[in-house]
Amino acid sequence: MLKPDAIQRRLVGEIISRLERKGLKLVGIKMVWMSRQKAEELYAMHIGKPFFDALVTFVTSSPVIVMAWEGENAIAAIRQLIGTTNPIEADVGSIRGDFGLSTTLNLIHGADSKQSAIREIELFFSEDELFSHDLCDDAWI
Ligand code: RTP
Ligand code: MG
Repeated sequence: MLKPDAIQRRLVGEIISRLERKGLKLVGIKMVWMSRQKAEELYAMHIGKPFFDALVTFVTSSPVIVMAWEGENAIAAIRQLIGTTNPIEADVGSIRGDFGLSTTLNLIHGADSKQSAIREIELFFSEDELFSHDLCDDAWI
């Protein structure tokens, strides 16, 4: 999910381009403006933590772009592209390492397991908004 700062800073194309160039396949995408309730559901595992309110306020402050991506080791690959939670500690070359300064405004959220990916995709997408399509280079060899 591209967080509000990615949209506000016009980094949508830049970030999506990095996931595409990695070789991942986009199978669902849309812009949504989350309610507080939806954001609390998305980040339910963080309820009670000191940063929870700031996180929910931030992710509901502007529209976000939710996406579903497929690929070999997609979760690990995307988390590597994203970089660590605190952008100051993230590798240069990662999205947060290249564009972020703040642990709250850190541009992008990625699921941390297959189970959370499924839960989060179901939170935002209906079945007819997800696609099962071949890319023209799928059957190259
Ligand atoms: P995300 O879920 O957004 O992909 O980020 P993450 O796995 O790298 O980090 P996570 O521990 O799941 O935390 C979720 C989001 O909460 C905010 N946060 N702030 N101030 C803090 O100490 C703090 N810790 C976490 C960040 O926006 C983080 O992405
Ligand atoms: Mg997380």
